Amino acid sequence: MSTLHFIQQAAEALQLSAQKLNPQYRPGYHIAAPANWINDPNGLVQFNGEYHVFYQHHPYDENWGPMHWGHVKSTDLVHWEHCPIALAPGDEYDRDGCFSGSAVDDNGVLTLVYTGHHYTDKAKDLFTQNQNIAVSRDGITFEKYTSNPVIAEPPADSAHHFRDPKVWKHGDTWYMVLGNATPDGHGRVILYHSPDLREWTYDGVLAASDGTLGFMWECPDFFELDGRHVLLFSPQGMEREEERYMNLFQTGYLVGEYDYATNDFRHGEFREMDYGHDFYAVQTLLDDQGRRIAIGWMDMWESDMPTKAHGWAGALTLPRVLNLDKDGRLLMNPVPEMNLLRQTQHQLGTAFTVNDRHHEVITESLLEIRAVFDLTHSDAEKVGLTLHSGEADETVIVYDIAAGKLTLDASKSGKSQDGVRTAPLQHEELLTLRIFLDRSSIEVFANDGRATLTSRIYPTGEATGLDLFAVGGETLVQEWTCWTLKDVWKDAYDKNEESE
Ligand code: FRU
Repeated sequence: MSTLHFIQQAAEALQLSAQKLNPQYRPGYHIAAPANWINDPNGLVQFNGEYHVFYQHHPYDENWGPMHWGHVKSTDLVHWEHCPIALAPGDEYDRDGCFSGSAVDDNGVLTLVYTGHHYTDKAKDLFTQNQNIAVSRDGITFEKYTSNPVIAEPPADSAHHFRDPKVWKHGDTWYMVLGNATPDGHGRVILYHSPDLREWTYDGVLAASDGTLGFMWECPDFFELDGRHVLLFSPQGMEREEERYMNLFQTGYLVGEYDYATNDFRHGEFREMDYGHDFYAVQTLLDDQGRRIAIGWMDMWESDMPTKAHGWAGALTLPRVLNLDKDGRLLMNPVPEMNLLRQTQHQLGTAFTVNDRHHEVITESLLEIRAVFDLTHSDAEKVGLTLHSGEADETVIVYDIAAGKLTLDASKSGKSQDGVRTAPLQHEELLTLRIFLDRSSIEVFANDGRATLTSRIYPTGEATGLDLFAVGGETLVQEWTCWTLKDVWKDAYDKNEESE
């Protein structure tokens, strides 16, 4: 059967599922599939002036299964529209899945580079993986390359984990990093290069675990940022260390100096990118404004996903601009285009003192909240915000000033097991919190991206209000504002209804 047939069949299944969705927890302004399962963001690229995001997708079911590539596009990174499924598995080399990968604009040809997954013994999870390409001139319909795979097998000294190609151009040469592992189970990233995206030469190892960084590194991305080089990846199998590495798998980065001539990457220590429960498999693109923009999967493997009962599972994070501070730490902030979604503004207070709690009734579930605490005028031990919803539901964000720790507690908003996550955050004169709520997600950006916490939450009812609080003393609050945000998917949905 042809790829087109597989895509058509998947589209029909997806449409049927979409009609049966329960919308309770559907995101209003995050990327999600029309229905059923998604995981990693794939193929982030700007093509003919539009941003494209693909994603790992199982269109037949709310659980992970044979991977397709779903597809959305946007002119401004906040108003997204669904496009037809871009890739379906079924050819010999990608029979059991079109796994994660990336996209490049090859001189007017949008080229997807992805992993073909092939079980040799599914019951024992034995598989082989290879690398493939698919091309498109219109950015919507893709044709798999007739000579796939472009890399048929891993290098000789490798385990069978061999996936998630991220491709970029440097000078006239294409480069590819791949997630990989040694036969004795040390995660690593390996490098290839090519003149034409079709013939690839193995260059060797870019970075590897020293024994402490897991058995497999998924979804690598490698780029220059603010004069240095950054390797992002998602290691599997790291042990929890107190408040570090608290999720099943991590997403983090190494920062250093890279020499293309020798493939030598000298880097510092591994750091986590986001401290919430649900941030994985991040990928970036460099846009025409020179911004390095990252999007992650806003869920975690093997976690409880209550929306499966609603006919869907998985969403992507907000697009975030990456920068490095002078100490080589990544800063992540939402793209400024997020402001386009602001609707009603609620000015909840400026220059006021809080010594206990200030409560405000806000009943919207699509919100941006900004609170600026002046810690030079504070003798409080802790300050923070509580977001209320439903009967007894609350999500608490609290900063422990002496300990320099920012905590997100979602144990009373759908994460009754293991509901707390903590980010280190150095004490500064001001504590600035920017929080995005989207029905079943919360993203906290603190002090201009010095710490972020991203988690899925599942409140049992509608939003009922917000508290701002200080514990053990009082604090001056410079500003407390909140905006209701636009439901971009509802707009798209209503438009479809009108045109029917
Ligand atoms: C990461 C990952 C990738 C793989 C994909 C399969 O979440 O495991 O390594 O390509 O998901 O869906």
